[in-house]
Amino acid sequence: MRGAHGNAAPRYHTESDTRQPFNPLTMTPSASTSIEETLLGVYRRDADSRVEWWRVSVADRPQTWRLEHGIDASEGITGPVDMDLVVDEENLRAKLKKWRREGFVLVSDEVDSTQTSGSDERAAFMPALRRAAAAMAASRLERNARRIPARDSHGNRDAESEPRESVRIGQIDVPCGLRHALVPDINPAYLFSDRFDDIIEDIVENQRVMLIGHTGAGKTSLIEQVAARSMHGVLRSNMNGQTTVGDFVGFWTVKGGETIWVDGVLPSAMREGLWLIVDEIDFAEPSILAALTAVLEPRGRLVLKEKGNEVVAPHPSFRLFATANAVGAMSQFRHLYQGANLMNEAFLDRWRVYMLDYLSPADEADVLMKTLAPHMTRGLADTLAAIAADCRAAFAREDLSSAFSTRRLLDWAGLMLRTGDPERAAGPAIYAKVSPEDAALIRGIVRHHIALPDVGDGHDSQDQHDQRD
Ligand SMILES: Nc1ncnc2c1ncn2[C@@H]1O[C@H](COP(=O)(O)OP(=O)(O)OP(=O)(O)O)[C@@H](O)[C@H]1O
Ligand SMILES: [Mg+2]
Repeated sequence: MRGAHGNAAPRYHTESDTRQPFNPLTMTPSASTSIEETLLGVYRRDADSRVEWWRVSVADRPQTWRLEHGIDASEGITGPVDMDLVVDEENLRAKLKKWRREGFVLVSDEVDSTQTSGSDERAAFMPALRRAAAAMAASRLERNARRIPARDSHGNRDAESEPRESVRIGQIDVPCGLRHALVPDINPAYLFSDRFDDIIEDIVENQRVMLIGHTGAGKTSLIEQVAARSMHGVLRSNMNGQTTVGDFVGFWTVKGGETIWVDGVLPSAMREGLWLIVDEIDFAEPSILAALTAVLEPRGRLVLKEKGNEVVAPHPSFRLFATANAVGAMSQFRHLYQGANLMNEAFLDRWRVYMLDYLSPADEADVLMKTLAPHMTRGLADTLAAIAADCRAAFAREDLSSAFSTRRLLDWAGLMLRTGDPERAAGPAIYAKVSPEDAALIRGIVRHHIALPDVGDGHDSQDQHDQRD
């Protein structure tokens, strides 16, 4: 509903929601006063049985304001916007003076996301989107239902055309692959959180998925665990200085006096329908990125120039993934991942890029319990997950310079169960891997959560940096 009556008054999304309203009847703006902070809102005057109003909001272009005008009937019947214009500051101030003379008063500057100054299309967008998404979900369900193996009219299954079985992971049905020697082992302690559903759906849709996030956040294991459960073979190729373009694309070699071509990981995965994880893609050589770019389209083909321009078409089960620590939204942490290359936006735009954060403390405690069952107790797990969360908060504040990964937490917890001593376990699992300053701070966090025995009462710390703290 559009109008300027009481609760029905249009309201705004602006950067300046905390502003103090300026009433043109009582105040004169000083030169130093920003219009954005003082003058936005609805100005209204009652005249006879009608309410006339002007609405002032921030326009799209800098230093401009949008003015809308309308006349509503007093009984609550709203009229249309009959004027909609964009003005500069000088013009706006002149208008405000005029409105003051004419008896307009600022009546509303509140923000309400459901009542906005935009067009009807703006309000209509979300309901239309919800309807479209519901229709898409229904057709997806139908598609999944059709995937159940069906028999032909003779009661036989046609091996080629038979729809494959699928397995539900999170809320998503993932078509199963053919059993393969390279299917990863299932980690029964692996926790699929709700936020993974979008990623898993992208895998089903054959999108190119790049996972970015700190070390040990679970990027590689997410893909491996989806593959493990849906029985797809996985090839991994690490770009951190170990992989040459020959390893990646292929090379000629002499074997038994014969010159033969050996496929690299990319054509192998494409031909055999494997899932290829390009780990640490932000360290890849340009020649590898160039080869990859060709297959970033869902049905993109690879041309093996070295092999007489042989064309490799992707098997329908082929999937391509990349992981990185410091690209896109993670670029701010590049100093932690030295040598990482910036990836250009055109390259990133060819991927769905998901930022994977560490698990929540509750989820991480569950993972600890499952991974280290039956010895890990709920109380121990909760405390350890809280320590990890505090270390990450210190890292986010830049008090700590090292991230605290789930991998590190699991390693520490496992060693702690073996030694019965958190400090001794923290030596090789944590302290020896970080700077003395970070070790001291982490120890402080640990002591905050755990009443450690004092040094000297028989416990041997392996801490390499600061044994006396
Ligand atoms: N959701 C999870 N459930 C259970 N364990 C997890 C989960 N996420 C991460 N882990 C644990 O953390 C370990 C590290 O995860 P992973 O190797 O996937 O991290 P990564 O993000 O690929 O790290 P890097 O950037 O260093 O390669 C895994 O081996 C697993 O034990
Ligand atoms: Mg990894």
